[in-house]
Amino acid sequence: MNVALGVCGGVAAYKSAELARALMERGFSVQAILTASATEFVRPLTFAALTGRKVITALFSAEDNLASAIEHIRVARENDILVVAPATADVLAKFAHGIADDFLTTTYLAFTGRVVLAPAMNTEMWNHPATRENVRILRDRGHELIEPEDGILACGAIGPGRLADPVRIADFVAAGAIPTPRDLEGEVVLITAGPTQEPIDAVRYISNRSSGKMGYALAEEAAARGARVILVSGPVHLAEPRGAPTIRVRTASEMRAAVMEHLEESSIIIKAAAVADYHRSNAPRTKEKKTAARLSLELDPTPDILAEVGTKKNDRLLVGFAAETDHLVEEARRKLETKNCDMVVANLVSREGAGFESDENEVVLVLRTGETIPVKRAAKRVIARRILDQVTKLRLALNTSR
Ligand code: CTP
Repeated sequence: MNVALGVCGGVAAYKSAELARALMERGFSVQAILTASATEFVRPLTFAALTGRKVITALFSAEDNLASAIEHIRVARENDILVVAPATADVLAKFAHGIADDFLTTTYLAFTGRVVLAPAMNTEMWNHPATRENVRILRDRGHELIEPEDGILACGAIGPGRLADPVRIADFVAAGAIPTPRDLEGEVVLITAGPTQEPIDAVRYISNRSSGKMGYALAEEAAARGARVILVSGPVHLAEPRGAPTIRVRTASEMRAAVMEHLEESSIIIKAAAVADYHRSNAPRTKEKKTAARLSLELDPTPDILAEVGTKKNDRLLVGFAAETDHLVEEARRKLETKNCDMVVANLVSREGAGFESDENEVVLVLRTGETIPVKRAAKRVIARRILDQVTKLRLALNTSR
């Protein structure tokens, strides 16, 4: 498969060289396109050496002949995927509004394939309403965005804006390049994602570190595989996944209500949410004043949604999650039994760079048959794919045994 790799002018441009290599390692042939400002940060020669191909740096070559005048059309036709990393605020604005004033932007307008954008910029620029609006336009157009990561930026600020890890971008591009099977057509998949927030008073709450990324990846993947998806999401900073209408809730009890409302119509239920286990009953609606005295909070257990669904599931397929710090498989097996699940996705949350808040995960699928299937560390979209592969197998087994 052919990838046109657009590199814009930003400090992160040097990471694109690593991305070019990572894409090649995954079997892509890479045509690098450097914007004029990108060439201020990185040398075209680096990309030429890595990709073994001439690097495009300008709309018109010195000869200014017809061949070069229509080269962006050729590049647009010959490539299957257009990846832009780093994508600056400027290029996002130009793509969003169809401004075509250099090779990359004219190629974009002529391109009809899959577009993957990995933005990188200063936090304020990323959060600016103009950029937010451009991102929304590009997402609505069906383009895929790899969110920038939090970290220390070149400008010294700390916040979102750092280009995603090149290996992660390459994995993301590769995961989407395999044709998605339509093996969930006819299924209604109910997915819960994110944390819940349990109010302590009008302004404080109990919650956990779940980002919702695993559940959202599952929702997007299930929709891509033809399922009708209902996503019930706790408070997260993620855009609604493509093809998955999202019901936003806050507390465990709101999540329970949304799940129960849609249980009847669902054929597969995946409970990826990290539901808070305790809440404060009758939390005051006002803000409680601090005092010098020690404070104890009385907490009551929240409803265990998974366990309740387990008692009402009939022939629905039920997948639970287990976030553990110790005895991963044993704990997952215990939850499988007690909550009447068909499969439990177990992840070790104590591991660096996987699980909560991370873009990657590493899990073990624990099945009712006694089988355990380890899924090695990968982007959450790739993990979602493996989970749903297993779900379709279980579905098939269930249908044939009926
Ligand atoms: N879950 C749920 N409702 C709750 C708590 C958990 O539906 N009130 C679901 C989660 O969505 C997840 C699974 O149960 O699919 C595992 O949750 P976890 O909190 O890890 O398990 P617990 O039952 O709370 O067990 P423990 O605290 O012993 O780990």
